[in-house]
Amino acid sequence: MAVSKVFCADQKLIDIYNEEQVDFIGDSRIENFRDMKTDIPKVLLRLPSHGEIDDVIHHCDISLNSELSTIKLLNYAAGTHGLKHEVILMIDLGDLREGIFDENELFDTVKQVLDMEHIVLRGIGTNLTCYGGVIPTPDNLGKLIRYKEEIESKFDISLEIISGGNSSSLDLLLNNKLPEGINNLRLGESVVLGRETAYGDYIDNTYNDVFTLEASIIELKHKPSVPIGQIGMDAFGKVPHFEDRGKRFRALLALGKQDVDHRQLIPFDTIKPIGASSDHIIVDVSESINSYEVGDIMSFRLTYGSILSLMTSKYVTKDYIG
Ligand SMILES: Cc1ncc(COP(=O)(O)O)c(C=O)c1O
Repeated sequence: MAVSKVFCADQKLIDIYNEEQVDFIGDSRIENFRDMKTDIPKVLLRLPSHGEIDDVIHHCDISLNSELSTIKLLNYAAGTHGLKHEVILMIDLGDLREGIFDENELFDTVKQVLDMEHIVLRGIGTNLTCYGGVIPTPDNLGKLIRYKEEIESKFDISLEIISGGNSSSLDLLLNNKLPEGINNLRLGESVVLGRETAYGDYIDNTYNDVFTLEASIIELKHKPSVPIGQIGMDAFGKVPHFEDRGKRFRALLALGKQDVDHRQLIPFDTIKPIGASSDHIIVDVSESINSYEVGDIMSFRLTYGSILSLMTSKYVTKDYIG
């Protein structure tokens, strides 16, 4: 399952998923599915909220769920519109974000879901390394397989999808340690950034500079490294602290915290983003390899978080090369 939320389901990139014929497209925002052009089944990754049930029924084929009350609403809405909706039941194996934690609740939920006329139980899944930072192992993912077997024998059914996590499960997959029976991973960061997320290792034969940021230099001057005057609060209500490094050569870039966290930018040059306000990023270019002029473009490689916020910002122009 290829995840599209990190690039806000930009249609040009969805078209690549279409071309590659991934099995599913996953996104956490219902808004991203509304205008998406694809024939690939759409999977809502964030548990549906009660206020978006109708949208979920109409714009997604499958949703991840852990609350019986929500599935009941999905069942009712699907029935009202003459539709069927498919669900994957999420099980919390210890990361402590979404998922059923209590075994009895799990079996009771399965029992009730199987009785619902307009809901199809497509499978079970889990999510790790998101809130708790818990790394997938043969041990914890093995528990998912044991639940699959127990559910299948208790209810005499066959679960089609066993979704064993996100990009943090890739390390197990690549090292042939993913427990047998897991037949689905929901992959975001690894697809856009070529990185597994259990240990942060880059994956062979992938690229980590598919998304880059180009920012325009709007000022370039030598200035002291410590502000002059009595220091109060900065633009975000924090009292800033500065190390005196003498006069530095500083570039001012035409984007700011509203677009991206400057600490998440990885320079190609030996320069350092040192601070930001809403609409400006300040970069120390005293030790740069390149020589810059006002009007020049400064380029950065990106992290997952910076791709996410830059793609979300309407102030950032998206250019596609290739
Ligand atoms: C439930 C769920 N599954 C999968 C993913 C994809 O995670 P990753 O980008 O680490 O592959 C996310 C987050 O985007 C998620 O919330």
